[in-house]
Amino acid sequence: MNFRLRVWRQKSSDEKGRLVDYDAPDISPNTSFLEMLDIVNERLIERGEEPIAFDSDCREGICGTCSLTINGEAHGPSHPGAACQLYMRRFTDGETITVEPFRARPFHFIKDLVVNRGALDRIVQAGGFISARAGSAPEANSIPVPKHDADRAMEAAACIGCGACAAACPNGSAMLFTSAKVSHLAFLPQGHPERVTRALRMVSAMDAEGFGNCTNTYECEAVCPAEISASFIAKLNREFARASFAKKLGD
Ligand code: SF4
Ligand code: FES
Repeated sequence: MNFRLRVWRQKSSDEKGRLVDYDAPDISPNTSFLEMLDIVNERLIERGEEPIAFDSDCREGICGTCSLTINGEAHGPSHPGAACQLYMRRFTDGETITVEPFRARPFHFIKDLVVNRGALDRIVQAGGFISARAGSAPEANSIPVPKHDADRAMEAAACIGCGACAAACPNGSAMLFTSAKVSHLAFLPQGHPERVTRALRMVSAMDAEGFGNCTNTYECEAVCPAEISASFIAKLNREFARASFAKKLGD
């Protein structure tokens, strides 16, 4: 297959960026999108040109590192799935494909297709954990968890922290991400001791990073590779309201 790529090239946040055209001829339909970029980069290096900078790690939809906006969609046209799970057979022969970085105000630009998504890590650091005794695993039946709660917790825990939700949202909101991280602990008894402080601190960290608010456009849910439901945002709102009342009563 043959493609024409339009790739965002920008040396640093201090310099201006622009879309640069590259030909990508003779690509197998079974090549992944990132492998196709590897091939393009090898050809650029052979010609003595600067390769395209892009992020990847696991390349199997687990780590959340790949962060490409492809033809205007976070992670590209094949949902659900991360950019690393996208194959060239999904496109038509001769197609022009536009590749840009994830854009959201808190994602600071680094180079070409690479942005710093440390803002998501800082939201988790604010409260996305439990304080538990380290050591051997406790006996599984010592803390019974209702099946429905266990299922919901596992659904929320599937979030891979990619940031596509914020990149796709017209408000640059990270509420789907934050709701997944708050919910997967709120559904489990182990997460209850810090339930109030977690909701308050993570929402406050999300606001401090400059993410916007949810206005129910559902773009986040549409691009999420982990199929996190927007219903978790309602859960986050309930957790935040509950925590705010609890804090007021405690004051
Ligand atoms: S909620 Fe979905 S889109 Fe957002 S960070 Fe988690 S996996 Fe990525
Ligand atoms: S590289 Fe790990 S999810 Fe894409």
